Amino acid sequence: MSQRVIDKPGWDVTYQIYPSSFNEGRDREPTGVGSISGITEKLHYLEELGVDAIWISPFFASPMKDGGYDIADATEVDPVFGTNADADKLIQQAHEIGIKVIIDFIPNHTSDQHAWFQESMLSRDNPKSDWYIWSDGIIDKDGNRQPPNNWASVFSISQIEARAQGKIPDLTDDDLTPPKSAWTWCKNRQQYYLHSFADFQPDLNWDNPEVRQALKDVMRHWLDRGVDGFRVDAVNYIGKNPDRLNEARNTAYRDGKDNPYDQWRRFNSSGYMLKLLPYMKELTDVLEEPLYKDRDLKIIFEAYMEPQDLKLIDHINPQLASSFNFGRLDLLTAPALIQKLHLDAYYASLPKGAKANQVTGNHDKPRIADVLGAEASRAMMLFNMMLPGQTFLYNGEELGLTGHKSIPPNRIKDPNGLRDASRTPMPWDDTRPNAGFSDADESQLYLPVNPEDLSKSVRSQVSDPKSDLSLTKKAIQLKKQIGATNYHPLSVSDTEGGASHGVIAYGVSGRTKALTVKNFSGEVRRVRIDSLHSLGNLAISSHQAEGLTEKDEVSLQDIILQPHQALVFTDLQ
Ligand code: NOJ
Repeated sequence: MSQRVIDKPGWDVTYQIYPSSFNEGRDREPTGVGSISGITEKLHYLEELGVDAIWISPFFASPMKDGGYDIADATEVDPVFGTNADADKLIQQAHEIGIKVIIDFIPNHTSDQHAWFQESMLSRDNPKSDWYIWSDGIIDKDGNRQPPNNWASVFSISQIEARAQGKIPDLTDDDLTPPKSAWTWCKNRQQYYLHSFADFQPDLNWDNPEVRQALKDVMRHWLDRGVDGFRVDAVNYIGKNPDRLNEARNTAYRDGKDNPYDQWRRFNSSGYMLKLLPYMKELTDVLEEPLYKDRDLKIIFEAYMEPQDLKLIDHINPQLASSFNFGRLDLLTAPALIQKLHLDAYYASLPKGAKANQVTGNHDKPRIADVLGAEASRAMMLFNMMLPGQTFLYNGEELGLTGHKSIPPNRIKDPNGLRDASRTPMPWDDTRPNAGFSDADESQLYLPVNPEDLSKSVRSQVSDPKSDLSLTKKAIQLKKQIGATNYHPLSVSDTEGGASHGVIAYGVSGRTKALTVKNFSGEVRRVRIDSLHSLGNLAISSHQAEGLTEKDEVSLQDIILQPHQALVFTDLQ
């Protein structure tokens, strides 16, 4: 089986920048928060790394209560990050060196400070009264007003702690921890409004064509300023059942361990396909309008959904838009499932002309080096990078950064748990104050520098050929050289002919061919590739020490892998 996965090369490596903690430009009095000009200053670094595109997390006008995913005006750069002119300059300079720029587009909700919501909440009959989702609620058997249904807020993790502290009244030991309701009472309108996330992030009413028009105008605004596409936030939430039916129990939910929000299976409050698919199509259609259709643009959808749903999304407009292949984020330590679901089934499910993608981290997830350990995460990066399609790197992954383990409680910014750990400043230069991220006083920094990051700074890695940074660069170069368009699953046995016990191999072909083999186990493995009886040249090894040396010629019938190691072979004979 071989699956052709991409039609034309390009967009191979997309690098996510979390602007608050990336770099503060030296063109202003230091504030301790990263800026757009700070990104422009680092374009050369990104060029050297070899990235094709950057995706910048939100930098729009915002009260910044959810890292900018609470937008007050999506057409303006927040002064914290600079000006619209700074954004124009960044886009222009990135384009001059061949780097594309995609930005976050947040269609499901705004900040409650957005002018649209401020107007909508004024009365039940103002021009924007129907721009958000309002409800009178219901009266329960005791005569009390209640939200209209059981829809829950994603941001319910704090309920676990609240329960432990006895802060949720009237719970018996047998009761599940209640999630936070997705409905909040608005005194002004004497109605509830819906918010799938925090109460300061009201959901827009996608069933209102004026709302859809206004959101598409935001996309056009940024396309006109030159961006090359969008990462579309939480897109599954724009499709809701207009009948507002209750969600049913999720029997796999583990109380006390999982986010209480996950105790419902979600078919009505989000991912309601009858609405979702046409609405998503409308978004991709913007990129095909006459003004834009000759540009090389892309959309990447953020939707934590089941593979069968993602498959439908990937078919909407394969040339332009795809969904993040997130599955592996939850399966990082389960190789058999990675191979079956997120390689073989994933590549086989992609429509013609679609772009596959690989992702192992982002600003919402624990850092991969913490999840897997240092060596295994280097190997995972290499394993991902060689796959055909678009590899996403979250800023700092190329340095092997870990999460900050002890951010003082008074400096926490995240409204939903522990995500700040992965959002601390980039360590550029460990010999400079604040690791070179900003010249501000330490107490002003967006988040404190992670002390564990100092030894991993860019300065300390850049000229070390064995560093994570050098490995990442090398892997990117090889990816581009190969220009893989096809994925070939391969079967592996141990050299005695038995099961391979956690070793996965795949081949790719494009301009040239390559073979990647990865040991997902913590023990040495000696394996053979069942269908390849030839030799290969070792092009890259994820491990620095023991084992094979690069450029060695190796029989593909006898490959020795150190624990967690990944090896890439080229010049297959
Ligand atoms: C997904 C974003 O990645 C996350 O950071 C944010 O909190 C939610 N969407 C709400 O916008």
